[in-house]
Amino acid sequence: MKNYLIPLAMITAIVSCSSPKPAPAIPADPAVEAKVESVLKKMSLEEKAGQLVQLNISVLEDDTHEAIDPAKLDKIIGQYKVGSILNVMHDKAHTREQTAAMVRQIQEKSMELLGIPCIYGLDMIHGASYLVEGSLFPQEINLGATFNPGYAKWMGDAMAYETRAAQVPWVFSPVMDLGRDPRWPRIWESFGEDPYLQAVMAREETLALQGQDPNHVDTKHVAVSLKHFMGYGVPHTGKDRTPAYIAENDLREKYFAPFLACFRAGALTAMVNSASINGIPTHANAVLLSGWVKEQLNWDGMLVTDWADIDNLYVRDHVAADKKEAVALGINAGIDMIMDPYDPECCTAIVELVKEGKISKARLDDAVRRVLRLKVRLGLFDKPVWDDDYPDFACEKFGRKSYEAAVESEVLLKNEGGILPLKGTEKILVCGPNANSLRTLNGGWSYTWQGSADDFVPQYNTIFEALFDRFPGKVEWVPGVVYDKFNWQRDLAINIPLAVKAARSADVIVCCVGENSYCETPGNMDDLNLSDNQKQLVRELAATGKPIVLILNEGRPRLIGDIEPLAAAVVDIMLPSNYGGDALASLLAGDENFSGKLPFTYSKHINALHTYDYKVSEHRATMGGSYNYDAVMDVQWPFGFGLSYTSYAYSNLKVSADSFAAGDVLKVSVDVTNTGSRAGKEAVLLYSSDLVASLIPDVKRLRAFEKVELQPGETHTVHFEVPASDLAFVGADGRWRLEAGDFRLSCGGEGVMVKCTQTKVWDTPNI
Ligand code: BGC
Repeated sequence: MKNYLIPLAMITAIVSCSSPKPAPAIPADPAVEAKVESVLKKMSLEEKAGQLVQLNISVLEDDTHEAIDPAKLDKIIGQYKVGSILNVMHDKAHTREQTAAMVRQIQEKSMELLGIPCIYGLDMIHGASYLVEGSLFPQEINLGATFNPGYAKWMGDAMAYETRAAQVPWVFSPVMDLGRDPRWPRIWESFGEDPYLQAVMAREETLALQGQDPNHVDTKHVAVSLKHFMGYGVPHTGKDRTPAYIAENDLREKYFAPFLACFRAGALTAMVNSASINGIPTHANAVLLSGWVKEQLNWDGMLVTDWADIDNLYVRDHVAADKKEAVALGINAGIDMIMDPYDPECCTAIVELVKEGKISKARLDDAVRRVLRLKVRLGLFDKPVWDDDYPDFACEKFGRKSYEAAVESEVLLKNEGGILPLKGTEKILVCGPNANSLRTLNGGWSYTWQGSADDFVPQYNTIFEALFDRFPGKVEWVPGVVYDKFNWQRDLAINIPLAVKAARSADVIVCCVGENSYCETPGNMDDLNLSDNQKQLVRELAATGKPIVLILNEGRPRLIGDIEPLAAAVVDIMLPSNYGGDALASLLAGDENFSGKLPFTYSKHINALHTYDYKVSEHRATMGGSYNYDAVMDVQWPFGFGLSYTSYAYSNLKVSADSFAAGDVLKVSVDVTNTGSRAGKEAVLLYSSDLVASLIPDVKRLRAFEKVELQPGETHTVHFEVPASDLAFVGADGRWRLEAGDFRLSCGGEGVMVKCTQTKVWDTPNI
């Protein structure tokens, strides 16, 4: 048996003697706190334990899996006093009415038996994706590609409104794991590989989901759960839920930064990383959970585990001998709510641990307070259920914004000889396994966990259907390769010769390749290359000599280095959701212009998986010196790359002063001109490079961006304000450092030098 209390006690001591208590991340509201205390003081130990447990809805389902079994509800709420339920019945979306009725039933029972409302949580990550009629937006990876935070706001607004309309006050969103390793199957769930882009978009989404006042979340808003805290996205093996090894400076500088932005925006809850960092399972990591978040940010929100991850502490990670030891380890590390999907006995374990003194009464009460505070802030005590009208549910406006986001997110990567836009006169062959599927357009977490859009919303257009409508009489569909219905991760070459035959009489081939939808561990794979069947399809089609427009519909950048030269044009549409086919048809037809840019590095070789912010000494072009280590950043397409039907020229990159001190704000401007003949939108990205630093500097870092719309010939001056502290990095000692010396700012091929006159070092994330 371990001594659970030591890590937490040590953390508290370290934090309190090294720094004064920081201002709270969410300012406390006396009325909220008074309500929490008045409820807490009346609660029994059993009632307190129940508040710390969240169960899967399946524990309440009757035999039809469509309704709650009243006897089970009595037992779970009455006997175990469970405070939270998650997920959808039978792993599928239900209607808004069905969902609302189910939650009402649970709430009424909770109020009757406990006098404390239950909190229901759902995995809505790209719109109200667990409601049949909900509005879905492109996945976060696509919103990253828009470089337009307005869409994160629209998605958050719609998701909050529609989720609340179904009586659900809590979503497990936004996803915060940086997509820095394309082998990992969940990179499409977040906004890309860059911490700054992730921070800006996720902060926007957080504010849209929760509203401006986290102490009073109204009935058009929901609580967020930032997930997964943190470092989940870079497992050493590339396989989901396996260990990561991250240097502490990187952890703070890159992985923590987006969380910090959202905690500061008032994020009410966070879900913990299922896996481990540097050998410590995150669910047992008191330094990160209690130290970095609760103490250092003075954050009074609630930490929930991921799915059965307390069990994983003993079953998988072997840091606890049994369930009880694991429960104590997690709660003492800082967990407030245990998502223990199927096991209400977790409540009994907590009661016993408190009686045995292995969880202190103070820690128990602190965790319960955090759960109650969340419920009070959400207004659930006053209104466990609500009767508001939701006239904008699934409205045309949300659909329109989803379409626009899809248009701005699909990235044109190659357009040889200006084959695109299509003229409209061509005979078009549409093929590939992704040509006629809504499931692949949406990806996972869409109506079901693994994604099943075709079964739920056949009214939307697949790529083939959208092209068929846009180019009447011109489009033929022959898939050539399809996904196996019985083993959906596999594809089958069913009729490549037929596709080749059709290609011979077509003028252009739109070949839609990529991946079927997947989510989490089922998306693990052993080869990042696009499948052999799909590559074979492309090769055989190319042999006809007909031009290929290659459409990549995939959750991660599958390697295509050997077939890319066979395509005249390439578009990466990632996971653009229900309007993604329509958006693509409009873009290919030239009704809309491309403006998406890659939010990740598109790698070319399996042994050269990089992010854009690599160390200068990783690439022979930036390392200099007499050695050539043959270290090449030979990528397919870099982060931030994306073409358009027009062209842009950058000039006059200026910074208001040629030197700065640590407290200054750098005022930067650049002129962007549309030099082509079509209107377009351009994402203007500003980078900084620290030329000499006490740790090997990153070659460059994104510091600001803005999307501008320009008519042909129009010039717009973009102004950025960058706090000098944003140019700092975290040193080997874990402290932030802004070091005197030269920096280069760059934007659209322009560069300007600027000097920092002062070295400053600080502990907290801000100066
Ligand atoms: C996933 C989380 C999700 C949770 C609840 C887990 O398996 O990792 O992202 O929120 O399940 O469904």
